[in-house]
Amino acid sequence: MARIQIEGGVPLEGSVQISGAKNAVLPILMASLLSKQPCRLKNVPHLKDVTTTIELLAQMGAVVGLADQFTIELVADSVSHQEAPYELVKTMRASILVLGPLVARFGRAKVSLPGGCAIGARPVDQHLKGLEALGASVRVESGYIQATADRLKGAKIVLDTATVTGTENLMMAAVLAEGETLIENAAQEPEVVDLANCLISMGAEISGAGSNCIRIQGQAELAGYDYSVLADRIEAGTFLVAAAMTGGHVQARGAVPDTLDSVLQKLEQSGADISTGEHWIELNMHGRRPKAVDVSTAPFPGFPTDMQAQFTALNAIADGTGIVRENVFENRFMHVLELQRLGADMRLEGNTVIIRGVPKLTGAPLMATDLRASASLVLAGLVASDSTIIDRVYHIDRGYENIEEKLGQLGARIKRLPAG
Ligand code: UD1
Repeated sequence: MARIQIEGGVPLEGSVQISGAKNAVLPILMASLLSKQPCRLKNVPHLKDVTTTIELLAQMGAVVGLADQFTIELVADSVSHQEAPYELVKTMRASILVLGPLVARFGRAKVSLPGGCAIGARPVDQHLKGLEALGASVRVESGYIQATADRLKGAKIVLDTATVTGTENLMMAAVLAEGETLIENAAQEPEVVDLANCLISMGAEISGAGSNCIRIQGQAELAGYDYSVLADRIEAGTFLVAAAMTGGHVQARGAVPDTLDSVLQKLEQSGADISTGEHWIELNMHGRRPKAVDVSTAPFPGFPTDMQAQFTALNAIADGTGIVRENVFENRFMHVLELQRLGADMRLEGNTVIIRGVPKLTGAPLMATDLRASASLVLAGLVASDSTIIDRVYHIDRGYENIEEKLGQLGARIKRLPAG
């Protein structure tokens, strides 16, 4: 398996282009299933999860091609089997996002039930409950969710938890349902808004996306789309933390500041100077060591769980003691044990990790365990003395486009080692 090697100690300097948001690209690609007409998505990052999604859609019978390096074209007029098999769902849980579009357009779907995952149990009960409210009959059999319906009917759905992909799935189901749907306690993440904007461009009637109550007036059919996806706030946040940890000065081009308010606030508290424009964010640490910050994860607009591991790494080398609390997923601290191997002083207590910053980490071989945990190991490697080698980097490739190339452009001494 490929590995990444980092020689730490270089303050990052320069400008980096932020890619399209993985978590917006995936549902928007799935939304192509809602229309017979051609769809075209621009600003698509080169990520493993995108390849998996294309494979999934192609297996169903959609025609998928590349218009250019970052633009995908899809036509889902003839979809012959409405199924997401276990082999694909086990590598990417977001495959569950085909459920809503398939039932809405074809009246049937068979989707492997995602199992547990490295960061927690992650049930999909709210997706299923919402689909049932829209009139689908749903049963789970031999590890598969089987859903059938004649035409779905609009309904009022109150989610027990503000699930991101659950809200997206139900929004995609409701746009083709008969009548009005209200999703209450909806997720407010920017990626939900991006999907809603794309659906609106296809002719859907949606209001309230970005608030906790989304109202949808169903249509008999939808047109295709020609859409450019939002910038990835988590990738941008990760590069900004990298700059803060190394005492550097980095501009994240294409980043949308409004999607990162809670993260930017924490970076300022840690001592960074932040300046922003409509489509860029710049962080200057002026060579200073960051100050420890407390972080408590929450659904948007709260502090994102997908940035928790990166701030745990920042606190590892910060001045002072930081407390990081994970409230969204129950087992999202696998990076802690790996960071301790570099000399971090961290104590795990339930859903909280107490971190006493140390002036210096020392490089060691590490193992990536999940996507964002891996990012935190890369960040730690950037400040560790000596060499850090991270194994199982396929986790990173699921969500970060060319991470070693982009960090290399900012001066980091980082390279990918062939499988060994
Ligand atoms: C999405 C993101 C992921 C991010 C997460 C939280 C995508 C592809 N992935 O994941 O990067 O970390 O949001 O911001 O967009 N839950 C239930 N029942 C359900 C659904 C969820 O109990 O039916 C719980 C989960 O176990 C978790 C919480 O709700 O504790 C939030 O999960 P959810 O918002 O669904 O995460 P994902 O959509 O899977």
